[in-house]
Amino acid sequence: MSATVTVRVPAKVNVQLAVGAARPDGFHDLANVFLAVGLYDEVTVTESDELRVTCAGPDAGQVPLDRTNLAARAALALAERYGRRPGVHLHIAKDIPVAGGMAGGSADGAAALVACDALWGTNASREELLDICAELGSDVPFSLVGGAALGTGRGEKLRPLEAGGTFHWVFAMADGGLSTPAVFREFDRLNEGVRIPGPTASDELLAALAKGDAHTLAGALSNDLQPAALSLRPSLADTLAAGRAAGALAGLVSGSGPTTAFLAADAESATAVARALLASGTCRAARVAESPAVGATVV
Ligand code: C5P
Repeated sequence: MSATVTVRVPAKVNVQLAVGAARPDGFHDLANVFLAVGLYDEVTVTESDELRVTCAGPDAGQVPLDRTNLAARAALALAERYGRRPGVHLHIAKDIPVAGGMAGGSADGAAALVACDALWGTNASREELLDICAELGSDVPFSLVGGAALGTGRGEKLRPLEAGGTFHWVFAMADGGLSTPAVFREFDRLNEGVRIPGPTASDELLAALAKGDAHTLAGALSNDLQPAALSLRPSLADTLAAGRAAGALAGLVSGSGPTTAFLAADAESATAVARALLASGTCRAARVAESPAVGATVV
């Protein structure tokens, strides 16, 4: 039997996503406060004759199985750096929404990288792995490290943050995804002619995160991409209203959406908000999850 490695990797929510003006390279400078949440994908790698990707889970039909999949790109990048043949079968057990604004694709990239490193015994340093992650995408380094972190640059330069307690979230999944480039383009369109200040993290938000103070964190949650996501998907306003009416402390679009995230006072309240959201008919599914969660880990 061939060797197999499985890596579990969390989704993320952005408790603050401050977006600057478009840069000459097309990316936007960010102050991106990432928090890993306990919704997980698992990536299993097994030696194989050729590179192959399979996926299982409710949204599996929407996952590309070719070399555009970030898990495949991660295996290819590591193999190239270490002069290995990228013969692996990557199986993704998918629970994170696809194109949902929760870094599901990035999570699979980080997980595949850690899994191939373990399978091949490459023993790449943390810095080398983070380097490859940053090449794969702006959110991939955070999926590797998990916990809480401030991402600057295009989101790939990370500074770990303290998260002083457990936060209780509800995530409302929408029908279909939103394309991240399309949401950034809409942000540019909505802000045409506007002078956008350099993005900075909110001191109040970072203090609430460090203290584990859900009420203060709720008041400080912000996402500069939310108007763009709402412009492309106006029905998300109904989901946000339903979650707030159900007793969430606050609600916002997760990253580029269309998943919406609701912060609850405690686990009991989160369960009640999830039930009410589902009953409201404004979302496809509602899930509770706690944060912070650890990054990509071999299981
Ligand atoms: O880095 P990643 O591949 O995830 O980015 C996907 C797209 O999102 C980019 O091509 C760009 O259009 C947009 N983006 C951006 N600024 C960022 C991150 C992403 O404009 N900081």
